[in-house]
Amino acid sequence: MSARSTVIEVPPRFRVILGAWDAEIDERTIVLGPSHAFGDGRHESTRMCLQALASFAPRGGFRLFDVGCGTGILSIAAAKLGGEAIGVDIDAAALAVAEENGRRSAVEGRVRFATTWPDGTFDIVVANILRGVLAELAPRIVARLAPLGTLILSGLVSTDAPEIVARYAPLLAGRRPEIFERDAWRTLVWRLSARPSP
Ligand SMILES: C[S@@+](CC[C@H](N)C(=O)[O-])C[C@H]1O[C@@H](n2cnc3c(N)ncnc32)[C@H](O)[C@@H]1O
Repeated sequence: MSARSTVIEVPPRFRVILGAWDAEIDERTIVLGPSHAFGDGRHESTRMCLQALASFAPRGGFRLFDVGCGTGILSIAAAKLGGEAIGVDIDAAALAVAEENGRRSAVEGRVRFATTWPDGTFDIVVANILRGVLAELAPRIVARLAPLGTLILSGLVSTDAPEIVARYAPLLAGRRPEIFERDAWRTLVWRLSARPSP
């Protein structure tokens, strides 16, 4: 480890390096440069997304759409798991940071960042944004999800979860999400390939 870096473990699959890193960049190492963009692996909302990706991403190739990519951490994680990712953000500075972090993490060929939303559908759609934005974007987010895809929504506190479930469930054939919790934070995961719970 460099004296100028911080290592953040996100078990079971990732470690995030903040700052300079001159050792091996392997398939669990995400390297992020200094920036004001959100997403350095310390916030529970990001950590739960990383853990959901590690648990639920298909083995082999998959395509991920990252809404509100910030530092690009979730797109980079998808690439580390063997996927390809497109991230969007309303913050142009964050997009530049995410591009640079893709290079630092040695996945620049497998991640792409843009302001405009891509066409088509994705095996995984992940969005770690505030409740109000998730509610507003619901139809657009669901439209990007493949029929047997996985949707991960984060950035929610416990009191936000019922509203977001009520907003998304009708758009997803009434399916209910799995709800993961850490302290006050909640992450909702719809796995459309899994058998619906009775
Ligand atoms: C909480 S950060 C998440 C960053 C990273 N994905 C993570 O999980 O740590 C939310 C990001 O969403 C972006 N954002 C907010 N509203 C948005 C919108 N309507 N469309 C796209 N991105 C948005 C913000 O600029 C910010 O970078």
